[in-house]
Amino acid sequence: MQKMKEKTAPATKQLSEEHQVILKVIAAVRAQCDRVEGGAALDQAFFARAVDFIKNYADKFHHAKEEDILFPELGQPGVEMHCDPRGQMLHEHDLGRGFVRGLEAALKAGKPAELVENARGYCGLLEEHIYKEDNILYPMAEEAMGAQRSAKLGERFAAVDEKFADAVKAHLAFASQAAKD
Ligand SMILES: [Fe+2]
Ligand SMILES: [Fe+2]
Repeated sequence: MQKMKEKTAPATKQLSEEHQVILKVIAAVRAQCDRVEGGAALDQAFFARAVDFIKNYADKFHHAKEEDILFPELGQPGVEMHCDPRGQMLHEHDLGRGFVRGLEAALKAGKPAELVENARGYCGLLEEHIYKEDNILYPMAEEAMGAQRSAKLGERFAAVDEKFADAVKAHLAFASQAAKD
């Protein structure tokens, strides 16, 4: 996607592109919830794969870039933001983890109603969270960091991409497939 622009694009653009992948899976999870609520049998394999995606792509890969790289950078001397939404963003990451724990437990116990409740909770939370990051936090962060810091950050993100390359490939394939089903 827009490979030629990537070199000069602000670092958070990459994070926003990851959001688009996460939103694809969220849409698929919602569609599966509709089916379950419509009386269809729980697609155990789909939900297990979705949990794997959420834990390893959305959280361990994407949220780790935010929590371990972007957020600390925003606390560096010389980076001034009008307000600091990082605490709220971290709180929402944690709330998301709570929903995922609930989803996993319901999946193991074979409780469709609880599974749907936690899955929908996660989807709604993450959609709002992503909206806030794309439209408020990231633009504010880019302005506060400036082009040079942003470029350095992009390099650090690229190192994470390299480390997780194989796993990311598999998660992207899952997201594309889930969007089609
Ligand atoms: Fe986040
Ligand atoms: Fe994010």
